[in-house]
Amino acid sequence: MTKPVILTGLRANNDLHIGNYFGAMLPIIDMAKQKSDEFQVNMFIPDLHSFTTPIDHSDLYDQIIHNARLFVAAGLPLDNPEIYLYRQSYVPAHSELTWILDCFTGFGEMSRMTQFKDKSTKLSSDRVSVGLFNYPVLMAADYLLYGASYVPVGDDQTQHLEYGRDIAERMNSRFGELFVVPEPVAKQHEFFGKDQGLRIMDLVNPTKKMSKSDDTGKGVIFLGDDPAEAVKKIMSATTDDKANVAYDPANQPGISNLLDILALLRGKPVQEVAAEFAGESQYGVFKKVVAEEMQAFLQDFQARLVAVDDNSVMAKLESSEAAMNEQANLTLLRVQQAVGLRPKV
Ligand code: ADP
Ligand code: TRP
Repeated sequence: MTKPVILTGLRANNDLHIGNYFGAMLPIIDMAKQKSDEFQVNMFIPDLHSFTTPIDHSDLYDQIIHNARLFVAAGLPLDNPEIYLYRQSYVPAHSELTWILDCFTGFGEMSRMTQFKDKSTKLSSDRVSVGLFNYPVLMAADYLLYGASYVPVGDDQTQHLEYGRDIAERMNSRFGELFVVPEPVAKQHEFFGKDQGLRIMDLVNPTKKMSKSDDTGKGVIFLGDDPAEAVKKIMSATTDDKANVAYDPANQPGISNLLDILALLRGKPVQEVAAEFAGESQYGVFKKVVAEEMQAFLQDFQARLVAVDDNSVMAKLESSEAAMNEQANLTLLRVQQAVGLRPKV
């Protein structure tokens, strides 16, 4: 009996910050651990997607392995047989199905994709690749190959997921039941409790979200930051003149953000953490607590990252890739038969 499948692509890089960590990485890992009794959990590194916009290729390979190590350092268990960890390009069926789906996908529907429009306007036209245009088709192949019902993605990816549901339905109505159509986006949100919508804010400008595209880096704490440097960033975080540590994101965004961060570091509800500082008027005292907690977290994370055993990561990737090739090839063959590339048995 086969289990339903949850699938997600792990896009990560060296520049991961604490917003990515608490907002994306940890929730994905928690979900994988919690759901792996009932579901097959596919977590993969979309390496073919990583150069749809121009990159420096000299360290791509190392970067991909580094991605896997980051997730292991953040707690992804390697010994759970229901959690698969694999690289997209090691399962060639992803590329093959993409080509077939390409030929049933309209130029117009791809041109309407907001991510394509946003990203392509930032590049000069000779640098806008067909790969960038095609991105959602490869993404659809990523989950249709495994019959995934649940595909957790960020808001910026929901349009891509809607296309994926469309192309699955289009192929099914033309060729018979080829694909499992993923659940509608609203149902996915319900399933993953997306409404919690955590947002860590920039330390210098706490009304905008912490993001790697901040040019100064002063408002952003990266997982690779020197812990002493991170202490300085917290100590100089923007606050307000109210002289009162209280959780009030609308009126005290800086202090509230630091309370959110402290709550995440301690794994406690923010109200509980805020109550601890009720009546505190000296921001320096409060910031020092947050800074120390951050320092300890970074030291610990960085030590865990160094300690990740490369051989076990590689063994996990290879065993998952063998299993995934088997599953993906079964779907690919059904599609190839349906479109007439292989004889029907
Ligand atoms: P960035 O804005 O730094 O470029 P990405 O857009 O690559 O980050 O986001 C990667 C993942 O991290 C997404 O799932 C996104 O929701 C999450 N994420 C990014 N920034 C934050 C933040 N400040 N707080 C919480 N989650 C975040
Ligand atoms: N496009 C996703 C992102 O930018 C990554 C991704 C690629 C993905 N293929 C996927 C996510 C398939 C879920 C399912 O975050």
